[in-house]
Amino acid sequence: MQTRIIDGNAIARDLRVGLIRRVAALAAMGVRPGLAVLQVGDHPASRIYVRNKMKACGEAGLYSEHIELPAEADESTLLGRIRILNQDARIHGILVQLPLPAGFSAERVVEALAPAKDVDGFHPTNVGLLTLGNPRFVPCTPLGVMRLIEREEIDVQGRHAVVVGRSNIVGKPMALLLLQRGATVTICNSRTPDLGAMTSQADILVVAAGRPRLVTARMVKPGAVVIDVGITRLADGKLAGDVDFQSVLGTASCITPVPGGVGPMTIAMLLENTVMSAERTSAGRGSP
Ligand code: GUN
Repeated sequence: MQTRIIDGNAIARDLRVGLIRRVAALAAMGVRPGLAVLQVGDHPASRIYVRNKMKACGEAGLYSEHIELPAEADESTLLGRIRILNQDARIHGILVQLPLPAGFSAERVVEALAPAKDVDGFHPTNVGLLTLGNPRFVPCTPLGVMRLIEREEIDVQGRHAVVVGRSNIVGKPMALLLLQRGATVTICNSRTPDLGAMTSQADILVVAAGRPRLVTARMVKPGAVVIDVGITRLADGKLAGDVDFQSVLGTASCITPVPGGVGPMTIAMLLENTVMSAERTSAGRGSP
């Protein structure tokens, strides 16, 4: 079987063109969408992610603020900054880059965000709305995966989707979105006994376990759609996904590469959530 490689860069580029139009429509009403990114400490991967987010904001015409606090800052300082941003009319989206240094409670920090500005979709109110099938902000990575699936015209209704990963950021919301679209969903994790017996039943397989090359061809049903969310830098400096890409070529019907698959979609969805927040505010539906 010829495996189609899904070009996340091209799809994200396309989506950004649509976003730039929405930004222009807001500009005509005197509104510029604004995103604040809070970063605590100097986690090396976070530094790169945050830089990419800020760059993408600039390119799409969004206002952005990058607020950096030292790892030694105390949690109350971070909570204070969040409270100020919650009230700041220039800011429509607030993102606290995770992970936070030891000693911070991500739960308390996320709960301090105004739900109407929580463009990551991590606040319990937004998690609850997604669970109830009435989402407001959906976490960017799983939202990006759904956009890829839509763009590739992949049928979800009635298919068996297997999600490997149970994180609040990807695995759980991913499963909910697939469920909402009519899939039969199984959630596994890297410690599931005989993981291959589960994954090989999937029509749609989403892998977000953070374990490089965990999934090999023998764990994939012929013709399955394989979405690889993992990205790990190996000792030799190369980037690897959670799927052994080379081995799965010829088995899957289509697959996302790493890099260039899900990654670019995550940032596009962050911009989209921020623009949506500004649109909601300008329509009078944005109060916390
Ligand atoms: N760290 C890794 N992924 C994410 C994300 O989607 N949002 C935030 N805030 N931090 C992250």
